[in-house]
Amino acid sequence: MSTISSVMQETRVFPPSAETVGRAAVAGMAAYEALCKEAETDYAGYWARLAREHVVWKTPFTQSLDESNAPFYRWFADGSLNVSWNCLDRNLENGNADKTAIIFEADDGKATRVSYRELHLLVCRFANGLKSRGIGKGDRVVIYMPMSVEGVAAMQACARIGATHSVVFGGFSAKSLQERISDAGAVAVITADEQCRGGKTLGLKSVVDEALGMGGCESIKTMVVYRRTGADIPMQAGRDVFLDDLLAGQADTCEPEWVGAEHPLFLLYTSGSTGKPKGVQHSSGGYLLHAILTMKWTFDIKPEDVYWCTADIGWVTGHTYITYGPLACGATQIVFEGVPTWPDAGRFWQTIEKHGVSIFYTAPTAIRALIKASEVDPKVHPRNYSLSTLRLLGSVGEPINPEAWMWYYEQIGGSRCPIMDTFWQTETGGHMITPLPGVTPLVPGSCTLPFPGIQAAIVDETGHDVEWGKGGFLVVKKPWPSMIRTIYGDPERFKKSYYPEDLGGRLYLAGDGAMRDAKTGNFTIMGRIDDVLNVSGHRMGTMEIESALVANPLVAEAAVVGRPDDLTGEAICAFVVLKQARPSGDAAKLMVKQLQDWVAKEIGPIAKPKDIRFGDNLPKTRSGKIMRRLLRALAKGEEITQDVSTLENPAILEQLRQSA
Ligand code: WTA
Repeated sequence: MSTISSVMQETRVFPPSAETVGRAAVAGMAAYEALCKEAETDYAGYWARLAREHVVWKTPFTQSLDESNAPFYRWFADGSLNVSWNCLDRNLENGNADKTAIIFEADDGKATRVSYRELHLLVCRFANGLKSRGIGKGDRVVIYMPMSVEGVAAMQACARIGATHSVVFGGFSAKSLQERISDAGAVAVITADEQCRGGKTLGLKSVVDEALGMGGCESIKTMVVYRRTGADIPMQAGRDVFLDDLLAGQADTCEPEWVGAEHPLFLLYTSGSTGKPKGVQHSSGGYLLHAILTMKWTFDIKPEDVYWCTADIGWVTGHTYITYGPLACGATQIVFEGVPTWPDAGRFWQTIEKHGVSIFYTAPTAIRALIKASEVDPKVHPRNYSLSTLRLLGSVGEPINPEAWMWYYEQIGGSRCPIMDTFWQTETGGHMITPLPGVTPLVPGSCTLPFPGIQAAIVDETGHDVEWGKGGFLVVKKPWPSMIRTIYGDPERFKKSYYPEDLGGRLYLAGDGAMRDAKTGNFTIMGRIDDVLNVSGHRMGTMEIESALVANPLVAEAAVVGRPDDLTGEAICAFVVLKQARPSGDAAKLMVKQLQDWVAKEIGPIAKPKDIRFGDNLPKTRSGKIMRRLLRALAKGEEITQDVSTLENPAILEQLRQSA
């Protein structure tokens, strides 16, 4: 809450410079307001105009928004297109064939450049290779790849043949991978022998083998293995094929599969407040439109830019702002394999200098970690690097605290580059609330105003607008083209999670609390209102971590809450009741380590609880409900001032407090 109040009292304002306004696609507040007005007057017409201007259609659509089966909205449904054509072939036709599409910056610092022509060739051959294995339109393909040209190409190849990809972040465990493969009913997995991160190699194919060995993945008929390190790995005859073998002899062109605008381009699993991760399903036409539009309006992408988004393709940011948006705009972008702190914490700044990056998009967690690192070791301070090519910065994934914002602005942006603090979600497909470089006066810690056409608002628990200056639920009042279409295989859960009846069933509920500044109307995000934690910009459901903990034979019961953390935004804090006696001293430390490793194995290292405390019990009401509110207070180290007389076992609080 301290961050929120400091944002609300923030008085520093950074209006756009004349130069920025001069070059921006949306130039000046009047232009922004005109777009908002256009959307207000003729909502469907506004998006239809943009979809005609920015996307290349095979068959033009005649209908814009279809609300007949709300909240399962459809956009441009009778139009057809191919997303990969829009990202690749379009650039060959536009004279970008020899332009660098991707600068691949490997973990070890080696850089490789791939032109649009070369990427097109790779994707076509990849697509033909997948087809040769019987994979086609409507199939689901899981991609478990390191950051690589081949990872991007795998996604594009799926898009080209109309297969729906589901990328699983390379840090997820075999069990998480197995759940996603099984839920999606995927027919193929595309992976690599190993990945390289921070000077180390980590097995990937071995994790896929383990996942497939768990059962429930019988739908998988093909595994494509990209040789990243050339490690000696077992291959299963008939099922497994090396990527180079798959590509060998394939034709250099591949006629795209023209699909309807609503055809599912991808599924991406993300954490919700209950149960297992949900497969967020995105469309082709509407999704692509927003990817392109936000690249142009938010990032002001221009032909001469060198653009770098540091996200992984395993997250939605890597989908929209690496694989699709930049390519569809003919940009030159960096695809980075490594980690920000290796070989030292100057890696980002050194890479910006090396490639002359002009647009840089990263997460607050990375910024906070690098601030700290530069305080410890002055050699990696950004002042030691030439960052003069930068002209625009972006932030995504979690609230950026004003101190980190100012450091980013001054130390990285040289007080000349506007920061786009982009609020959005896996479900929204692209930016929802964000400054535009040529329009918005920036306020540190605020994502400012809705993207033109996005009807963001703040409401109370009955769905009524709250006044500016008061907090409430962030909602979107009208459907937009790049929105989630459904939760794969669970339309009811889609409705319940995003269009709850309590709010009238017609408002998209983002799951975040927010507030608008009483004077400017600027939005500030106050964090999740559900049981979802945001750890280093990664979404984690507390229930998922709890289920992982109780799956351990030693654990009787577990409750997981978040607590604020200077570096990671939120930290995971678990309260655990063991089946055996409560350990103390070294035995407790050992048990903590054991359970942390267990969660890493069950879900992935990102889900490891930072704190684990043991108790003989958990604080519960007489009806047996765990009092999470109290656990949150304990996790933060706060005094408990509430009345605890209704607790079944008030004494447990003292025990849990002392077990810190
Ligand atoms: C949070 C990532 C504040 C928010 C693109 C949201 C943010 C969740 C911001 C989505 C921001 C994302 N300011 N909070 N600029 N961007 N969030 O699905 O809680 O991984 O609901 O998508 O991250 O996370 P997701």
